[in-house]
Amino acid sequence: MYLHSNRPKTVLILGLGVLLWMVACTKDEPVVTPTGPTPIELTVPPFFPKPYLNPDNPLTYEGVKLGKKLYSDAILSSNGLSCSSCHNKDLSYSTPLFTDKNGASTSVPPHVNLAFNPNYNWNGSLPILDTLCMADFEPEFFNTNRDTLYRRLSTHAEYPGLFRDAFGIENINDLEYRALKLKICYAISQHIRTLISADSKFDKYVMNKVNLDAMETEGMSIFFSEKGDCFHCHGAPLFTDNIFHNNGIDETFTGLDQGRFLVTGDPKHLGLFSSPTLRNIEYTAPYMHDGRFETLEEVVEFYNSGVKHSETLDPLMTKDNKMTGLQLTDYQKKCLVAFLKTLSDLQFVTD
Ligand code: HEC
Ligand code: HEC
Repeated sequence: MYLHSNRPKTVLILGLGVLLWMVACTKDEPVVTPTGPTPIELTVPPFFPKPYLNPDNPLTYEGVKLGKKLYSDAILSSNGLSCSSCHNKDLSYSTPLFTDKNGASTSVPPHVNLAFNPNYNWNGSLPILDTLCMADFEPEFFNTNRDTLYRRLSTHAEYPGLFRDAFGIENINDLEYRALKLKICYAISQHIRTLISADSKFDKYVMNKVNLDAMETEGMSIFFSEKGDCFHCHGAPLFTDNIFHNNGIDETFTGLDQGRFLVTGDPKHLGLFSSPTLRNIEYTAPYMHDGRFETLEEVVEFYNSGVKHSETLDPLMTKDNKMTGLQLTDYQKKCLVAFLKTLSDLQFVTD
């Protein structure tokens, strides 16, 4: 009787084994450990939209832990760089400027609430967060040496265990190079998705926990009314609409200033950029995709009196009374800057 009652179990175990083996073979991926990593849910503030999650790269406690460590570890590069060299937590995971080999400067975007972005980079050239960092291993960036990377990771005191816990990888050396890079990027993306900023003075005000002072209140009403009209592209709660616009910083477009056009080739997209979030904007100078403005005062003055006209200028920039600028008084400009600073989340950059 024992034999019979055991039989279905044996079949089941055999069946499972074959299934796992098939999955392992078809996907070229190692078998996941029996217990597996611990799934976690993003803690999304109640007033936020739904995050974009990737079913191929579910969030797990162990994945985030690995990603967080890799994010600020120069082990990935042969030039001492890590993600955090440019995406520095103290500056809302940003740094001032990155200059490429052609001498073109790009303002480093912060890693703030990226789980809610449908695309990445100033011109939206990359639609998927999870694979975005694959390019970072290239010579012009991390200049990663493949053999060194395998050696450093597999002989490291912690990484073999962290990779096993996060992805069930028993031996890092068994992974082919692309698969290794992909797992690294997957882990880092999991970490980036957890970087949610929703505890600024403005958020506390919305939750009735603090009051804004007179200048901040005046600035807020300029921001959210037709007077300043900022909210159409930088609306709450994300302070970005995640849509491409030409906000009028240029009249003609060359090089990287061509913006979205470089991705789509559509002349209607000349000079369009994804509206950046204004959360933690106080920490991420200089401003605009090329960092042309040093201060928030300069940005406000640009919107007040410096908007340049071109065929692709967003209609929002010229509607109603705006043909002649916003006509803000000096006091109103100061108020607008004061309001922008209520979007700073001190805990996010220090915790
Ligand atoms: C040398 C500086 C530098 C390093 C190092 C760096 N980045 Fe970046 N990162 C940038 C710049 C500059 C951009 C903007 C590129 C663009 O828009 O053209 C960017 C953009 C991004 C974005 C898109 C952000 C957004 O708001 O759209 C993500 C995500 C990102 N980087 C992740 C990473 C990860 C992960 C690493 C490490 C593997 C890394 N970066 C290392 C400079 C850097
Ligand atoms: C038509 C849409 C639109 C409107 C309206 C608009 N912006 Fe912007 N804003 C953008 C875009 C697009 C960029 C990025 C442009 C670039 O980098 O070339 C930007 C950039 C910025 C930046 C720099 C962000 C950074 O990370 O460098 C600040 C600050 C800013 N806007 C504040 C404001 C304020 C304040 C108002 C209202 C007076 C406003 N914006 C109105 C679309 C808009």
